[in-house]
Amino acid sequence: MRQILVTSALPYANGPIHLGHLVEYIQTDIWVRAMKAQGHQVTYVCADDAHGTAIMLKAEANGVTPEQQIANVKASHEADFSKFLIEFDNYYSTHSDENREFSELIYRRLNAEGHISTKDVEQLFDPEKGLFLADRFVKGECPKCAAKDQYGDNCEVCGTTYNATELKNPFSTLSGAAPVLKSSKHYFFDLPKFTEFLQQWTRDEGRLQPSIANKLQEWFDAGLASWDISRDAPYFGFKIPDTPEGEPDKYFYVWLDAPVGYMASFKNLCEQRKESSDPQTPALNFDDYWLAQNQHKTEVYHFIGKDIVYFHALFWPAMLSGSELRTPTGVFAHGFLMVNGEKMSKSRGTFIKAETFTEHLHPEYLRYYFASKLSDKVEDINLDFEDFMQKVNSDMVGKVVNIASRSAGFIVKKYNGLLSADCTEPELLAEIMRAGDEIASAYENREFSRAMRLIMQCADKANEYIDDKKPWAMAKVEGNEQAVQDVCSVAINIFRQLMVYLAPVLPELTDNAKAFLNIDDLSFASRHQALLDHKINKFKPLMQRIEQSQIEAVVEASKESLERTNQPSTGDQAVNDKAESNNNKDSKDSNYIGIEDFAKVEMTVAHVLECSYVEGADKLLQFILDVGEDKPRNVFSGIRKFYEPEQLQDKKVICVTNLAPRKMKFGVSEGMILSSGDPKTGLTVITLPDDCTVGDKLG
Ligand code: MSP
Ligand code: ZN
Repeated sequence: MRQILVTSALPYANGPIHLGHLVEYIQTDIWVRAMKAQGHQVTYVCADDAHGTAIMLKAEANGVTPEQQIANVKASHEADFSKFLIEFDNYYSTHSDENREFSELIYRRLNAEGHISTKDVEQLFDPEKGLFLADRFVKGECPKCAAKDQYGDNCEVCGTTYNATELKNPFSTLSGAAPVLKSSKHYFFDLPKFTEFLQQWTRDEGRLQPSIANKLQEWFDAGLASWDISRDAPYFGFKIPDTPEGEPDKYFYVWLDAPVGYMASFKNLCEQRKESSDPQTPALNFDDYWLAQNQHKTEVYHFIGKDIVYFHALFWPAMLSGSELRTPTGVFAHGFLMVNGEKMSKSRGTFIKAETFTEHLHPEYLRYYFASKLSDKVEDINLDFEDFMQKVNSDMVGKVVNIASRSAGFIVKKYNGLLSADCTEPELLAEIMRAGDEIASAYENREFSRAMRLIMQCADKANEYIDDKKPWAMAKVEGNEQAVQDVCSVAINIFRQLMVYLAPVLPELTDNAKAFLNIDDLSFASRHQALLDHKINKFKPLMQRIEQSQIEAVVEASKESLERTNQPSTGDQAVNDKAESNNNKDSKDSNYIGIEDFAKVEMTVAHVLECSYVEGADKLLQFILDVGEDKPRNVFSGIRKFYEPEQLQDKKVICVTNLAPRKMKFGVSEGMILSSGDPKTGLTVITLPDDCTVGDKLG
């Protein structure tokens, strides 16, 4: 019996579970259930990722302590997971004693081996909030293309990546204040020292998907850099131990202790199970799973999204190997969820929370749909509502459940629930049973879409058989009693095989089927015993068709929930983002603003008194504008690429006059000139007819 520990990435404790997350938890849960059904001892642990600036700020915005914040979110995460039938053996929190101990242990071992060093780092600091600003809390103009309102890590317009300190006219998204540069001491983990080890490790057979290993090769080619593992107060997390007397406290960066949370959750489970004699919840030995010398006794797998590969395939194995702990057997990445072919969007109502979905649709619909889409590849998966409805209705209701509903009635009504004593189609049944081997291996290899296809082929065979025999017609003819019972018994037996094959995906439906079939086991091995001379129970519909109106209701409710949460100035947008890890694909998404927000923008007719080049700035033009005030305004605009100063001299333009003044290298900019187009390909300044009155407001 293989002993396997499985994890899903730990969701941040600052927002609700949404359908994107569920790709991962459903994928992992299906795999765990499939491996358990094949007789392996599998343990599935997870936890909330409770630390970091984002969570601290979220608590502040909600007016609660961080502890209260993470407790509330944990309860809601657990409720969501349970609705989607995600069955963890343990769900814990990274804000735990176990996690603190392991994080300190790992840090101390790395430090003792000389893998930790310190360096002063200059970083943007929000003087109003008293906080160092992670990249995603700084916005400004792209240093390359001058696009406005770009985050501190990369430009969404031209795709350049840069340091937050390179942004032009930066401002803090938390307070709006202009950040200042401030230096402080940081602790670094010497990742480059592990290059050789990691190059080998990432190439080990079965460790990573080939596309991931190739991606990592690019990172190796570019050269690994030391990893900054400390953060300054105020921070919600663990203090770094053993720092010099008299120096300010430093905290572990959330990504240092987050993966350690896998171990901590498992350790906590080991404690809970210490005395257990129940084979369903066996006692577990922590050391068997985590000591380096025991690597070959047990297996550890991490399921993650493609956005956090760096942490799991580089930092984490390096940290583990540097502290004499075992490294994961495999790290499996999945792609991102698209809805109707696009990124999830709050304004389109496709940013769907787990809870909203369950208010209108059965969670198993989604489990089946994701299963039918998931493979071992790192591809994005698309939830297309049309396809979703069609697939669930035709596969689940039309094909699978139909087999039982077409045959159970006869057995229960005419034969007192008893199946025939002999199987009249042994070859057909054997064929379906044999398919189980391929289905089992498809599950194990995470080729769920292939598994679903194979299962549907079996269902098709059963339906063809029933269509061919037509028990409803046979039943009308005197003397056919035995034959009708036989045909229906074959159908029910195939249905039972299908329940075995679908149990990892549809635990609730198959549980109900168990009651109907009057059996208590749906493990893969159980299928070899046909149900002969066996009494079944009355059939109740196992799944309803999805109606268009239910989908519309989900989309509608998702729009509403946006309006409720999109109050200005809660800072929701910023804190919902992937905490400090730079690349949440979901939350930078389009968002409506209210008319009252729009009305705040003061747009004024302005006359260009002077337009000139700026010495030393190859992107800027400088404007002296008459905006109808007693003094002209000075404005810089990043349009030099597109205009000669003479072209704009004397023109009437639109100036945003209530934009906070921004200090730039060349002077203070006191407004913004509106233009249209794409800063990459060409911008056109919006000009107004000459007879417009300077100082008039637009809107
Ligand atoms: N807290 C970190 C993980 C720490 S693991 C030691 C984190 N949290 S998260 O809440 O942002 O994401 C949790 C998991 O859900 C990640 O694996 C992430 O890739 C996945 N997904 C989040 N949004 C997703 C989609 N829209 N689509 C698919 N998976 C997504 O990252
Ligand atoms: Zn840019």
